Amino acid sequence: MDIQTIGIVGAGQMGNGIAHVMALAGYDVMLTDISEEALKAAVALVEGNMARQVGRGKISEADMTAAMGRIATTTTLTDLGPSDLIIEAATERETVKQAIFEDLLPHIKPETILTSNTSSISITRLASRTDRPERFMGFHFMNPVPVMQLVELIRGIATNEETFSACKAVVDKLGKTAASAEDFPAFIVNRILMPMINEAVYTLYEGVGNVQSIDSSMKLGANHPMGPLELADFIGLDTCLAIMNVLHDGLADTKYRPCPLLTKYVEAGWLGRKTQRGFYDYR
Ligand code: CAA
Repeated sequence: MDIQTIGIVGAGQMGNGIAHVMALAGYDVMLTDISEEALKAAVALVEGNMARQVGRGKISEADMTAAMGRIATTTTLTDLGPSDLIIEAATERETVKQAIFEDLLPHIKPETILTSNTSSISITRLASRTDRPERFMGFHFMNPVPVMQLVELIRGIATNEETFSACKAVVDKLGKTAASAEDFPAFIVNRILMPMINEAVYTLYEGVGNVQSIDSSMKLGANHPMGPLELADFIGLDTCLAIMNVLHDGLADTKYRPCPLLTKYVEAGWLGRKTQRGFYDYR
């Protein structure tokens, strides 16, 4: 299947990054969100991030102008009708994602491929609520999308090879690398990354180290670009907790028990960078 037009649902941190890389790769993008303000903020962010890439000589002024011209926005899901591929990048809540797919179905072409950027929710379960489980799969970008090389491609139990190949071709055109994952809780990256972050929170909780010593240990001792607590703040502590709960519930093993300190921070509304407060204070 030849994919030219890409619909993106959700203009948040992930959605605007996906719009950025898709437009630069030459795809026509329709970005949708429920609020006009969110769409305006997303386009401004993409513009700022592309301008930085121009400033650093990564792309030309002409590339940026052409890419920005390929991004259209809408608050109406029906405008996603012509999309060949739709990537849902809304809030990480299953009921929200299910409702979006249900709302989309009457407006899209029978051959349109549906995907979710979910970081942990079952692709098979999401797909089963649509009319096309064979043309449904996980399309999971890493944050920040324009910088990170990996895209996890997750097959649901019914995903067909044509769908996988079409999505893999898109990842290739982006110049990124695809990792194929089976549909088990949190897939590959978060199955490994989140228990490490959770263990860092336990290390803090038990007083083995403080925030600075834990982060500098992993940065300088294991060559990670960010310490695990700084990374947790960057991802969002609510997202980290939600993924730990998916692992704990889905794999029924106490080794995935979320650290009580992580739960407490989320209950306090200290969600990391997005709320200006997490393990670090950004105010
Ligand atoms: N858009 C475009 N470019 C961006 C960007 C953005 N949002 N953020 C950073 N950049 C670019 C910068 O312009 C810079 O480009 P050049 O190399 O051309 O100069 C480059 O990225 C490096 O940025 P900085 O110099 O500002 O900062 P840094 O060297 O400290 O790197 C970082 C920042 C890339 C975020 C780095 O700290 C890093 O790799 N951190 C780890 C990120 C990570 O692990 N992400 C995965 C999270 S897990 C996930 O996403 C899965 C999930 O489901 C939760």
